[in-house]
Amino acid sequence: MFFYFFCFVSLSVGVCGYTVQDAPLLVKRPSWLKVCKKTDPKINSCINDMFLQMFPDLAKGIPEINVEHFEPLSLESVSISKGMGPIVLAGSLFDLLVAGPSNSTPVDSEFIQNGKKGNWNFGLDIPLLDIKSRYNLKGQILVLPLLGQGHCEIKLYNILTKVSTNLTFVEKDGRELMHIDSMKVKFRIGGLKVKFENLFNGNKILGQTVNSFINHNGLEIVSELEESISTSLAEIFKKLLNNVFMKIPTDLWYLTDEQYKEYNKENSKNM
Ligand SMILES: *[C@@H]1O[C@H](CO)[C@@H](O)[C@H](O)[C@H]1NC(C)=O
Repeated sequence: MFFYFFCFVSLSVGVCGYTVQDAPLLVKRPSWLKVCKKTDPKINSCINDMFLQMFPDLAKGIPEINVEHFEPLSLESVSISKGMGPIVLAGSLFDLLVAGPSNSTPVDSEFIQNGKKGNWNFGLDIPLLDIKSRYNLKGQILVLPLLGQGHCEIKLYNILTKVSTNLTFVEKDGRELMHIDSMKVKFRIGGLKVKFENLFNGNKILGQTVNSFINHNGLEIVSELEESISTSLAEIFKKLLNNVFMKIPTDLWYLTDEQYKEYNKENSKNM
């Protein structure tokens, strides 16, 4: 068995550290995996339900395919560097523990296959992400400087995301798998609350000033950082989903008419 660390770096943002683990393809359909039929006229809502029903198991982890629990989700680091504009920021959050992903609700899935290519677009509503991490940041937030390192807690409330993807249906060991080639994420956020400990080497007054300034101007700050945050979310989601779907062949959840007939036969035998 081998595993590797995922690391994405661009000019504005970097996400590191969701562990992707190699595993054999899933052979038997687990009880939590909902079956859809490719030719179902209501395929969009079937795929949405299939995804929704996976969440409790994703949260706990799926040991038979080496999918680590994602509640809480651990990330090694998310780095930020923004050199221009009202917010200038360099540094990173690291050793992140993110609570809340498993309470996400997928909505409005649109699932399209065109030969070997396809698209899966969906919304993901996340009531709360509670991030506990360490930070090392330096910069300027609108009118105030920010400098420090230590522990921090960041709460993001009511995040509504719109996710769009480009897919390729690939083959491995004679079975079809869905691979997400690229992903874009748009998001809106309802609120933000932060607590950075030990800003300015522990200067309490400056630290409090900066924390309360960020809390009062949270949405404006987030909108300034929108591109970085979108890119980070896309990289994280894409990695999470590929880590799952590249091990669950479509013959277990996205069936041709032929496969669907077999599935029904098996099912009636087991009744
Ligand atoms: C999908 O591919 C098309 C064509 O290459 C591209 O224009 C589009 O931005 C891609 N979408 C995503 C979500 O990556």
